[in-house]
Amino acid sequence: MRKIQIAKPYIDHKDKKEVMDVLNSGWLSMGKKYLEFEKNMAMYAGVTYSSAVSSGTAGLHLAVKALGIKDNDEVITTPFSFVASSNCIMYERAKPVFVDIEEETFNIDPKKIEKAITKKTKAILVVHIFGQSAEMAEILEIARKHNLVIIEDACESLGARYKGKMTGTFGSVGVYAFYPNKQMTTGEGGIIVTNSKKIKLICDSLKNQGRNINNDWLLHERMGFNYRMDEMSAALGVSQLDKLDWMIRQKQRIAKWYTEELSAVDGIIPPRIGKYRTHTWFVYVIRVLNGKRDIVMNKLSKKGIQTKPYLPVIHLQTFMKDMFGYKKGMFPIAENIASQTLALPFYIGITREDVKYIVEEIKKAL
Ligand SMILES: Cc1ncc(COP(=O)(O)O)c(C=O)c1O
Repeated sequence: MRKIQIAKPYIDHKDKKEVMDVLNSGWLSMGKKYLEFEKNMAMYAGVTYSSAVSSGTAGLHLAVKALGIKDNDEVITTPFSFVASSNCIMYERAKPVFVDIEEETFNIDPKKIEKAITKKTKAILVVHIFGQSAEMAEILEIARKHNLVIIEDACESLGARYKGKMTGTFGSVGVYAFYPNKQMTTGEGGIIVTNSKKIKLICDSLKNQGRNINNDWLLHERMGFNYRMDEMSAALGVSQLDKLDWMIRQKQRIAKWYTEELSAVDGIIPPRIGKYRTHTWFVYVIRVLNGKRDIVMNKLSKKGIQTKPYLPVIHLQTFMKDMFGYKKGMFPIAENIASQTLALPFYIGITREDVKYIVEEIKKAL
């Protein structure tokens, strides 16, 4: 049976050579590539500083910590995201306060944010889900009015713009991630971007066991972590970043194929792109209406076509319900969307014929 997997990274000859060069050099941590990757990524995003870390989750944790968010603070965020965007708040014993989402882009609904603000609210953690920006103009205005900081989880939206500006660069601090299914990969990895020297220095110290700026090996200014990105990952990152715009264009082309094939299919809503945005397509996620999402997923699976129910809502994960008493019905739009969404196979190398075949199988399943 023909098998079509949901995602795979695009790795070329140059990527392999760059990683091999590092291995051959014998310098596997905190070398030239680590610094080059940070410099190039800051330039790509259009910010002054960046700090490469071992994962997107590590980056988000440091971003939350660097902003001084702590016990009993509240951080407003979206329930329709990957769980790490809320966990990073809880690592510092603060509380994620969820706000429902917009139907069009699946991102946090700015119209509902103000009602969730209390005396304890310190920040808004915005997630740009699936590769397109949240409604940043309105969110920035609310943050300014209420004196809140903004953290951007741009782990799924590398390269995506809102009114021409890169996601990840609107708030005090943003984070990109490089797991193999992302717009570009370093294996595991992430990077913090910011225009604040203070945040850069704190993150550099925290990720490096709390060492000071001189990297004195056995002097620790603060309690830190080992969240450093290794040199092989950084070398892969430098090489992948060189072709990131090309890779994004490939994904935009594949997304267009899917949308063309799916636009006339009853019972499916293809992804929509909000005003002022470019979409860089971390995943291609459709809505399957009339309670048929799981039927379609199972039938495609029997045909060897891998799909995933991206994303279950965070507030109904067992540990969230136990810790905060979140219940079904609290964020109805996110819950409804989460019951319908399905990520389809999506990677550089999938052909138009593959896309046609997958859509035919979706039609049959429906
Ligand atoms: C929205 C979001 N936040 C955070 C992360 C965490 O990134 P990582 O897997 O690199 O820790 C991901 C990864 O999938 C994500 O999609």
